[in-house]
Amino acid sequence: MRVVILDNYEEVSRWAALHIAKRIRESGPQAAKPFVLGLPTGSTPLGTYRELIRLCGEKKVSFKNVVTFNMDEYLGLGEDQPESYRRFMMDNFFNHVDMDKKNIHTLNGLAPDSGAECLAYEEAIRASGGIELFLGGMGSDGHLAFNEPGSSLSSRTRVKTLAGETRIANARFFGGDPRRVPATALTVGVGTVMDAREVLILVSGYQKARALRAVVEEGINHMWTLSCLQMHQCAIIVCDREATDELKVRTVRYFMDIEKRP
Ligand code: GLP
Repeated sequence: MRVVILDNYEEVSRWAALHIAKRIRESGPQAAKPFVLGLPTGSTPLGTYRELIRLCGEKKVSFKNVVTFNMDEYLGLGEDQPESYRRFMMDNFFNHVDMDKKNIHTLNGLAPDSGAECLAYEEAIRASGGIELFLGGMGSDGHLAFNEPGSSLSSRTRVKTLAGETRIANARFFGGDPRRVPATALTVGVGTVMDAREVLILVSGYQKARALRAVVEEGINHMWTLSCLQMHQCAIIVCDREATDELKVRTVRYFMDIEKRP
């Protein structure tokens, strides 16, 4: 696992956007062979989306031949609802870049049969050739997408019940009331993310420091589902200094030192 430690959130966002843009450019995507990108929601990726929009406006990257798969969606919410992740993605990213809307994949929170929806999503990812780069964030309890503590580390896309901590953390999008946050969600599994050829995780702020320590310094553990990254062959965590507050000085020095080397 590579851990890139930067001074602040703005640097994390810039670093991640430049990395994603570079990967897309290098792959030379075409309509017949698009670049397949996995995407998250949450506050953390907003800066990265803003940077990607800027790079796209400056013609430094194009999303014309990029196919996307979003990580998750609240059960019972559709695009019409402002709190839905589909709407979040349209408002904060897709509507501002040159994406072909037919290349956007999100889980449908209103699907009449959510089990079938999850199976079809896995099938669509497979049919696209698999995800090249999965961008993600992390919950304060170390969760990845909506794979809450105790999720199977080989899980696939399915319906999950949300932890109380997650509903409290996400209440800010629901008028501050955790009871308004849906209790269940559709989410890609840990195994689905692990199948991506590269995983890039954004971590920012003191409130993620405890989880970052568990994920980086402790063992692989289903109670901190992002610790699965320890088994991934091409995983990067890009974080700010605040998020490293609970890491050992030695750990921080080690990762900073190896990043400096040519
Ligand atoms: C939700 C999302 C996750 C996201 C997490 C953290 O639980 N399902 O994908 O990583 O929130 O969000 P934030 O970046 O707002 O802290």
